[in-house]
Amino acid sequence: MIWNRETRYTPYNAWPKSTLPALTAQVATSKWRLHNHIQPASGLLNDPNGFAYFNHQWQLSYQVFPYGPVHGLKAWQHLTSTDLIHWHDEGLAIQPDSKYDSHGAYTGTAIPVGDRLFIMYTGNVRDADWNRHAYQIGAWMDTDNQVKKITPPMIMAAPAGYTTSFRDPDLFERNGEYYALIGAQTTANRGAALLYHSSDLKQWDLQGELDLPAELRGYMVECPNLVEIDGQPVLIFCPQGLPQTTLAYENIYPNVSLVGTQFDLDQVKFTAAGAPTQLDAGFDVYATQAFNAPDGRALAVSWIGLPEIGYPTDSENWAHCLSLVKELTLKDNHLYQNPVIETKRLRENAQVLQAEVTSLTGAFETELTLAADEQVRLKVATTDAAHYLLIDLDSQTGTVTIDRRHTGHPFAEKYGQTRTTQVLRHTALKLRLIIDVSVFECYINNGYTTMTGRFFLDDAPTQLQLAGNVAAVSGTVWNWRK
Ligand code: FRU
Repeated sequence: MIWNRETRYTPYNAWPKSTLPALTAQVATSKWRLHNHIQPASGLLNDPNGFAYFNHQWQLSYQVFPYGPVHGLKAWQHLTSTDLIHWHDEGLAIQPDSKYDSHGAYTGTAIPVGDRLFIMYTGNVRDADWNRHAYQIGAWMDTDNQVKKITPPMIMAAPAGYTTSFRDPDLFERNGEYYALIGAQTTANRGAALLYHSSDLKQWDLQGELDLPAELRGYMVECPNLVEIDGQPVLIFCPQGLPQTTLAYENIYPNVSLVGTQFDLDQVKFTAAGAPTQLDAGFDVYATQAFNAPDGRALAVSWIGLPEIGYPTDSENWAHCLSLVKELTLKDNHLYQNPVIETKRLRENAQVLQAEVTSLTGAFETELTLAADEQVRLKVATTDAAHYLLIDLDSQTGTVTIDRRHTGHPFAEKYGQTRTTQVLRHTALKLRLIIDVSVFECYINNGYTTMTGRFFLDDAPTQLQLAGNVAAVSGTVWNWRK
């Protein structure tokens, strides 16, 4: 398939009926398919969308282009769950089939209002000269999962002074008033986030531009997202083109988090409690979407994938996955992330972590503690001794390094094949490592830091090997049930 404008933006109903079943059948044979992560049946998955609790269920959609492993005509693929770990595919919730979203039903969010779910997303349109138009479209989902788009769009265009790179509304409600925080770019090419206000979900007025620190803007802010934890606001966003001197990051674009003490909605002023940090210190996290669930938790899901990077599964006509659902907490103004408690239900066959564990099923988990001032090396491997994912733990220097150089299927090499994160020195180090065939999620020191990424071995990994002072490690290993 040659991916050009025409093939990327072919309306879904103009594809031959046989295309999707053939792609899905091909993808199903991939040795890199995941057991417990959300992945596309075919084509490309990117940002999580519309994460909410509604109709007695968890609701989650993702950006999808079902026809190939490229960024083409995007829709919302909708999933529901009762436990945050098993998801039921509900099909396409929002299709790019109107004049306001003809070139993509882009990222957005959702909040329950009465007995319906209110959605706002970006309608991406290209005109005959391929100029972009961005509409912020409202829609209602009912308890039968039927979505009705509202016309005309809620916001017809970016205000003066901003370009058409205007997208990804994040809806939230405060004291009965509604807000949408939207990613933007000034005509001087600086990233921005614009706050809109509405009392009735019909009339939306610009409240102002968020006072993001100048050095944190880059040239475009994607996926701005506000969540409240213990009364403190936390801002999560994706500034593109950020200098690496501002924030130490190695991925093509960072996903940043900023913990605040206050978000003054009238003044559109966010008061930071500390320095911005990378939300994830690994290779592949972007477009994280978090929301305040009615059970009191702040929940987040990330896209495990990055824009503009080829992945080995591209040749199999699929790309990317979502992270596990993570619970966000705050301690001393630091953001912690951990898989939701429900994730433990996936564990089975507990065994003691030893120098070699060889009976794993491709999806597994280990929780371990390394005593202070020790070093140990973990290998995630198949029976092929030449290929593995390496994780080095050093509780003397307080570093964790993940090395993808020996996995056999390199990608994104330009951005480096190792990632290192710094935690407390001279202190016992705790690691919770989740492996799901071709994805790893590392939670370090109870979620103080996370490191997430994809890795591609020739087969699903079945082995964990430890080297170094193995006696300094104590831990447990579980296989995961599907
Ligand atoms: C981020 C993003 C969003 C946009 C969506 C399109 O990955 O570029 O800004 O809405 O993806 O799929």
